[in-house]
This record gives sequence, C-alpha cells and structure tokens, in this order.
Amino acid sequence: MRVKGQDVKKIMVTGGAGFIGSNFIRHIHKHFPDIELVNYDKLTYAGNLENLAGIEGGYVFVQGDIQDADRVATAMAGVDVVVNFAAETHVDRSIHDPGDFILTDVYGVFVLLEAMKKNGQVKLFVHVSTDEVYGSIADGFFNENSPLNPSSPYAASKAGGDRLAYAYFKTFDLPVLIARPANNYGPYQYPEKLIPFFITRALQDQTLPLYGDGSNCRDWLYVEDTVRGILALVEKGEPGQAYNLGAGQECSNNDVTRQILRHLGKPESLIRAVADRKGHDFRYALDWGKMRGLGWQPQTGFTEGLSRTVEWYLGHRDWWRKLIEKQNFQSHLRKNYE
Ligand code: NAD
Ligand code: TYD
Repeated sequence: MRVKGQDVKKIMVTGGAGFIGSNFIRHIHKHFPDIELVNYDKLTYAGNLENLAGIEGGYVFVQGDIQDADRVATAMAGVDVVVNFAAETHVDRSIHDPGDFILTDVYGVFVLLEAMKKNGQVKLFVHVSTDEVYGSIADGFFNENSPLNPSSPYAASKAGGDRLAYAYFKTFDLPVLIARPANNYGPYQYPEKLIPFFITRALQDQTLPLYGDGSNCRDWLYVEDTVRGILALVEKGEPGQAYNLGAGQECSNNDVTRQILRHLGKPESLIRAVADRKGHDFRYALDWGKMRGLGWQPQTGFTEGLSRTVEWYLGHRDWWRKLIEKQNFQSHLRKNYE
C-alpha cells in the first residue's frame, strides 16, 4: 500500500476495537501483513478486544482516550497514516446523554489533529465521518457539496469533527481527508444498532421495537465495502476532500426487520410499533460518484450481506451474549417496549 508515492509502514487506527475499526484491522492484517498497526482505543462500552480475537499478535494495542494529548502524541510517533474511527456512535444514546459525543466526536478530533500538526511526519489522516452530517433527504441524493444539516446530537458532533478536519487542511495545509459512509452492518457490530439488535433479540424470542411506522429508510453498506473504500482513499484520495461511501441498497426499517425475521424463521408477531425516535431522520441517501471515480464501488448486495451477517451472529452467540449480560442493556430505551 502506498501513500504519496511511499510505502505505508505504520498505520494508527483509533477506535480499532469497535465495529468498523476491528474489521479494518482484520483486513490489513490479512492482506498487508507487513504493515505495523497501532490500535488506539479507549475501550468504551462499544470497544471490545474480542473483536480482534485470533490476531492478537498482529497489532500493538494502546488503551487511551483520543482526548488525551500526551498519550495520542506518543502513540502517533513514527506513524505514516492515521485512520480515525474512534467516536461515540449511537444516535439514541446521543439523545439521552449527548455530553460524551461532543467530547469525543469534536474535542477528540481536535486533539488528534493537533497531535498530527506537532508530529509533522504523518502523511495522511483519514477522518471517518458519516452520511448523517447531511441530515435527512426526502428524494434524490446528497453529494459532497450538499450543505451539512445534522439532526441528532450524534450527527451534529460528527459534523463538527468533519469540518474541524477540513479546517486543519485549509488552515495548516495538513494532509487530511474525510470519508462519509452510509449505515454499515456486518460482523462485530455492537448489538444496539438496528440490524444486530434485532437479530439478537429475535434469536432470544424478544420483541423488536420498531420506531414510528417503520417507513424510515437507510442505505445499507456492508462493512467490508467500507473497509475497501477507506483503503482506496488512503491510496488515491485527495487531501482536503470529502468522499461519500454509499451502497445503493436502500431499505425501509420495516423491510429490514421482515428480512431478518425471514432469515431466522421467526414470526412477524415479534414486531412492536413503539414511539418514534425524537428528531428521527426519515431517509439517508448518497451520491457516491466521486468514490466511483477512484475505482471503488460496493460489492455486497443487501440480501447477501444480511444473510452473511445473520450467519455470523448465529455462529457467535457467546460474543453477543456476553455484551448483553455485561450491560444494563439499553436501559434508557426499555421503557419503550417492555
Ligand atoms: P463503534 O461504536 O462500534 O466503535 C467505536 C470505537 O471507538 C470503540 O472501540 C470505542 O471504544 C472507541 N472510542 C470511543 N470513544 C473513544 C475515545 N474517546 N478515545 C478512544 N477511543 C474511543 O463505532 P463504529 O460503528 O465502528 O463506527 C466507527 C466510525 O465510523 C465512527 O466514527 C462512526 O461515526 C463512523 N460511522 C459509522 C457508521 C455505522 O453505521 N456504524 C456509519 C457511518 C460512519
Ligand atoms: P440505527 O442502527 O440506530 O442507525 P442510525 O439511526 O444511525 O441510522 O437505526 C437505524 C434505523 O432503525 C433508524 O431509522 C432507527 C431505527 N431503529 C428502530 O426502529 N428500532 C431500534 O431499536 C433501533 C436501534 C433503530
């Protein structure tokens, strides 16, 4: 793998114990075994070193907060590329308790960018943003020049981090670029997001709380496609630019839920209509022509990706049962449906 015409020798992955970050580390470990990996992660409720089971020797783990400037600076020494996945990521939690979202998703990004400025040797910083920074769109698609209009505290804090990353390119000429992926799904996703939450609840014959009338729509991107997209950006992305990573696999929450139940052979009577999420975005949809221009396109259709994901959760019951037991799981949401 090359960046700016030079071989990439060392990558710092923040949030590498989370869902997308761990899939990214697994991919690099498998396909680029000579690249040194530093996994810098605070291990919040969403961080789990079991996501990296089997490749323990393949990366250096540093437990740290991206708000900790000294620890970040030490971990960044000798690094060629930083990929920042670390974030608070769940919209419902951001509605209930937004403080950590501002601290990690805005201030933490600032600390990383300052460390990069002082370090002076990092060749590229890939900041992982989200499609949610654009807000909801009834028809058509957002491109990278669409205005940012985030709805939730999560999306607003991600928009802050996204524009801060751009500001460090524009003001300090640092090689920073921004990826804006659509809703991801696949192995190792913490069972609070729609797909793994509903798979794991259905497997326990528990009800599936569908917000509002279930017509809200998301574009579902298989995690391996996101990982390949980020690698395309490392090699071919332009500093200062933002890139949408869409899937072209739009599906309403009603349809997603029914497909999950069909895969599992569980009855639709498990579905419960519950109160809508506050400020619930109706639809996310991206124009990802700019990524296509870099030679990237998603390879996994939703039917195939969902089937693989369901199989993975069926085969990894211990992984998700432990997480569910460890937590007072989504206690702030329970009143909605139990
Ligand atoms: P996740 O919640 O599964 O994992 C987040 C990881 O970041 C965890 O390992 C956690 O311990 C770590 N972390 C949190 N706060 C930290 C801090 N202050 N310092 C260091 N580490 C910290 O998240 P994910 O779904 O893998 O998302 C990764 C990135 O991709 C996030 O930036 C998210 O906003 C973005 N994104 C996610 C999706 C999606 O559908 N999952 C879609 C688009 C963009
Ligand atoms: P989620 O996985 O939280 O992702 P995001 O809100 O970031 O897109 O939710 C995906 C969709 O599923 C969203 O429209 C909200 C809905 N949803 C439910 O209906 N019930 C649930 O229990 C959850 C977690 C989500």
